Amino acid sequence: MRAMMLHDFGDVSNFKPGELPRPEPGPGEVLVRIAASGVNPVDTKIRALAPAFAPRLPAVLGMDMAGTVEAVGAGVTDLAVGDEVWGCVGGLANMQGTLAEYVAADARLMGRKPKRLSMREAAAMPLVTITAWMLLHERANIQQDQFILVHGGTGGVGHMAVQLAHAAGVRTATTVSTDEKAKIARSLGADETILYTEESVAEYVKRLTDGQGFDAVIDTVGGRSLDASMEAACLEGIIASTNTRSSHDLSTMHAKALTLSVVLMLLPMITGVGRERYRAILDAAAPLVDAGKLTPLMDSHRFGLEDLAEAHSLLEQGAIVGKAVVDID
Ligand SMILES: NC(=O)c1ccc[n+]([C@@H]2O[C@H](COP(=O)([O-])OP(=O)(O)OC[C@H]3O[C@@H](n4cnc5c(N)ncnc54)[C@H](OP(=O)(O)O)[C@@H]3O)[C@@H](O)[C@H]2O)c1
Repeated sequence: MRAMMLHDFGDVSNFKPGELPRPEPGPGEVLVRIAASGVNPVDTKIRALAPAFAPRLPAVLGMDMAGTVEAVGAGVTDLAVGDEVWGCVGGLANMQGTLAEYVAADARLMGRKPKRLSMREAAAMPLVTITAWMLLHERANIQQDQFILVHGGTGGVGHMAVQLAHAAGVRTATTVSTDEKAKIARSLGADETILYTEESVAEYVKRLTDGQGFDAVIDTVGGRSLDASMEAACLEGIIASTNTRSSHDLSTMHAKALTLSVVLMLLPMITGVGRERYRAILDAAAPLVDAGKLTPLMDSHRFGLEDLAEAHSLLEQGAIVGKAVVDID
């Protein structure tokens, strides 16, 4: 099968197209013919920084995919040949990624693809949808009478968080960098938008919450944004974050009795524990997708397997709006 191989960690020139034997599905696994592979910031971090969970080289990266089940391994009873699936299934540790024509992956990491979406659209969604779901429903535990803040409402995770919050009937404000992105965020269901480049935290907390702060803050940015999140949260509020590898003065957390809750959605893939949570969240999200309440914001670039280096570069430059996807077939 055709695959895009990473031969060394570092810059994008280390990607080279190659050929690999088609994998066989083991027990509990499904062989998927991949139609499209979604690109996420974590893929660029693995390529550039070789974190502890990076795969051994040469490696096939790529976590998200949509495709068609070609064969099932022993013990798989809930998916069948011909099923269209979506999932976040590999690209780290000893798990082959999705930048290839086929992947043999743990069936618990995928579900049946929502019918309304094309393969490209479906491949854009799993990792960010699972992450946003964990942030909102497993960590922040959002409720209908709340007013929450989502940072980066047109980013990969952010645009799913805005839509999931809207679908749950929760009032949502979101930070964006431009008027154009503010318009997109409103079209996704954001009730209020904040140009974080122009308005201070104190100003928007006063304007939108009468100085009280937000019940929950969803922070996928981290660093100085985590300080902003502490300032923006209400007394006894909660911050749910994906990015906490940084040092902070926690006195604001203490003074306001805040909770900080971290999501590391890759853990089930890394540890092998709790992988059924991916399927459960994808199955809960699929009806929302088919009802038109959850839609991926697709970046306008089109990439084939041979254009992967360009896709990684644009994502790293912040030049992708919404999600980038690589077409495989
Ligand atoms: N721990 C986990 O489980 C997990 C899971 C998924 C993702 N992540 C991480 O979370 C981060 C976001 O992922 P993603 O897929 O959403 O990335 P993305 O698609 O690149 O989106 C990033 C967003 O952040 C916004 N942003 C940047 N600086 C900001 C600031 N100071 N204030 C508010 N918004 C700001 C950007 O908006 P503008 O362009 O408007 O500035 C952009 O919309 C990445 O670092 C990723 O690796 C972690």
